[in-house]
Amino acid sequence: MGSQILGAEIKSSENREYGKTKCTIKDHSSLFASLDKTINVWMSHGDQAMEMSDDFQSLAYTENCPYAAARHNEKNFYGVQFHPEVTHTPDGKQIMKNFLFKICECSGDWEMSSYIKRTIKDIQKQVGNERVICGLSGGVDSAVAAALIYNAIGNRLSCIFVDNGLLRMNESERVIETFKKNFKVDLHFVNASDRFLGKLSGVIDPEQKRKIIGHEFIDVFKDEANKLADIKYLAQGTLYPDIIESVSAHGGPTATIKSHHNVGALPAELGFELVEPLKELFKDEVRKMGSELGLPDDIIWRHPFPGPGLAIRIIGEITQDRLEILRYADEIMIHEIKSAGLYGEIAQAFAVFLPVSTVGVMGDERSYENVIALRAVETTDFMTADWVKLPYEVLASISSRIINEVRGVNRVVYDISSKPPSTIEWE
Ligand code: XMP
Repeated sequence: MGSQILGAEIKSSENREYGKTKCTIKDHSSLFASLDKTINVWMSHGDQAMEMSDDFQSLAYTENCPYAAARHNEKNFYGVQFHPEVTHTPDGKQIMKNFLFKICECSGDWEMSSYIKRTIKDIQKQVGNERVICGLSGGVDSAVAAALIYNAIGNRLSCIFVDNGLLRMNESERVIETFKKNFKVDLHFVNASDRFLGKLSGVIDPEQKRKIIGHEFIDVFKDEANKLADIKYLAQGTLYPDIIESVSAHGGPTATIKSHHNVGALPAELGFELVEPLKELFKDEVRKMGSELGLPDDIIWRHPFPGPGLAIRIIGEITQDRLEILRYADEIMIHEIKSAGLYGEIAQAFAVFLPVSTVGVMGDERSYENVIALRAVETTDFMTADWVKLPYEVLASISSRIINEVRGVNRVVYDISSKPPSTIEWE
């Protein structure tokens, strides 16, 4: 859009570029200093700049894209068509460094400890003498948000943990145990399983599921918060990728990929003001912050789990039977991955329930049962991801254990798609 304003002609290109693309560098003087002549970059676009005004010169090109990077001759403006910020552009960090230190002349004295201090001050300034509630999900984001806010305002923070019936096996027990041990904050546990599952009965559309869960979550919160006196703020562990995938950087409309329920128009109905201290951070930075705040490793390194939980990992209708099958299959998968020592190397691993009946043989009997799909991805930013090449022995033990131990499943498949064009979750 920036290049369009400055006179470029933007066209929907015939050969859309998605994924790893070879990029040839024409100019090594600034943005691409110290890089090879040809680099791999991650592309994800349908439109591109075909012609630019004479004020611009192309710094790099790909087979389909004449302006993979461009510079304004006078104004020190730079633009790239690819994604330097994702891990799948291996030289992305160097490109960013060149931009920040060579072009913008930044000094690079940023540290997590000073960012924490600044954020704590921001929270104190925003909250004043008011009270805050924070929803703990068991995941790293809400835990770090809570720890940070606790550091800022102490016992004016109350934490609420909602069991929505869509959690993984033994999750609520684990969360309560962990937070009672690790946090000295006021923790309220709400078992709202029946409320959520009742509302979700018969619903198959993923966005509908998200909306219902989002609204219900807010309602449960309201009910619980009403029991606590004088709460003005609601804290959320919203991260930067949640914001850019759900709303444009300028607050305008964008092609929404998935409506992450903790971002968007909902907070206005809450009656609370929001505190979102992690909204400038990526996941790896949140983990770094958690570590500096002294949170235990099992919280910091736990794979992320989406707010709508197992609801978006059961394709189609959510039933108690399906939830039980999925919980068990997921637990087996994670257990086997941990036993193989691979959990820490994987960004996110989980099972998905497919409501597809396929034929199998069990003993002498013909079976006609459901499919479980396994998904394991590697990524640091969750905006792009590759599927993990899990060793065959690990896949074999997961598959045979699921088929032998989980009633109602006679087939296990492994998802070998990357993001984009697929997403990490199936719904
Ligand atoms: P996708 O599927 O969009 O997932 O590639 C990217 C990351 O976001 C998580 N995710 C969600 N988290 N509410 C959440 O809080 C949601 O509705 C939601 N959908 C996806 C997903 O688990 C992955 O980590």
